[in-house]
Amino acid sequence: MKRIAVLTSGGDAPGMNAAVRAVVRKGIYEGLDVVGIHRGYEGLLNEELRPLLRRDVGGIVNRGGTLLKTARCPEFMDKVYQKKAAEVLKKYDIDALVVIGGDGSMAGAQALAELGVVTMTIPGTIDNDMCGTEYTIGFDTALNTVVEAVSKIRDTTTAHDRVAIVEVMGRHAGHIAVGSGLACGAEIVLIPEKPVPLEDVCRHLDETHRAGKTNSIIIVAEGAYHSYDVCNFIKEHMHISPSVTVLGYLQRGGMPSAKDAMMAALMSEAAIDGLLAGKRNCLTASVNDHVLLLPYEEAKSITYPVSDAWYDLISVLGR
Ligand code: ADP
Ligand code: F6P
Repeated sequence: MKRIAVLTSGGDAPGMNAAVRAVVRKGIYEGLDVVGIHRGYEGLLNEELRPLLRRDVGGIVNRGGTLLKTARCPEFMDKVYQKKAAEVLKKYDIDALVVIGGDGSMAGAQALAELGVVTMTIPGTIDNDMCGTEYTIGFDTALNTVVEAVSKIRDTTTAHDRVAIVEVMGRHAGHIAVGSGLACGAEIVLIPEKPVPLEDVCRHLDETHRAGKTNSIIIVAEGAYHSYDVCNFIKEHMHISPSVTVLGYLQRGGMPSAKDAMMAALMSEAAIDGLLAGKRNCLTASVNDHVLLLPYEEAKSITYPVSDAWYDLISVLGR
């Protein structure tokens, strides 16, 4: 193993830069040449490769976004483009590819592995929705961003005795909604894993406000409802006018938390050590607070759903 490449793929997540830095510096420390691929799989297909030296990744450890840029590349689902990507890697003498991204990016890495490319995947997405790992880089920062935003919204909501709806990301998963809902004392959390009819939301608001609550925060995971649909339903059925805030890309940007920057360093180290020890085609998974290398098939057989206990506790505490 002489030369490796690294790319970031899918939605960016705070801590991706810290992972790129750690892959580059740990790789060079171990005597490897490291090449950065810009714009994920799209850049790989377009041959956007350039060598990375230690100093090229200076000053990024605590910066959001990704120095390498990222992209979604729908054509990469097609075998023809996967074969082309494998040929590009061969042309540039790349012995292994480190992919930093979510489930989709890992599926891309697995497709390349099936064509004989040696890969490793480092989990990076704010959604925390990947198979095989309890934790994905970026989740903690996104949670903290949501909690900070909701606590500001709470101030105004309290001052005006109002109901506020806050829409958070997470794609098809409710991890961000449940984690932030628990941490900021949301009254109601709507997630795709636990469908709740909007009539029940109105009933809950009605009961708790009759019992003395003066304001409520409803966190809506984007995969459960559109926040404006929730708002319109409440308006129609309760004759009150909730505010709506869609947090959007606020959740993907910003300096990574200490946890995310640390996880990035530890997972990157595991990826490089694994490659040098002859491990191939694995996810650097966090399991019971340890970083393990899990072969993709094994990783895909393990899921970490939203905690029922956390979800239930939100409703116990938010009355
Ligand atoms: P994430 O990696 O955060 O889950 P996406 O699902 O958007 O983000 O996937 C990122 C990229 O990974 C896609 O744009 C595509 O290039 C590649 N990808 C996703 N799914 C597959 C798949 N099943 N096979 C091959 N490549 C895939
Ligand atoms: O996967 C990260 C994520 O931010 C999801 O939470 C969200 O559904 C999606 O990406 C939005 O992606 P984009 O706006 O880049 O299309």
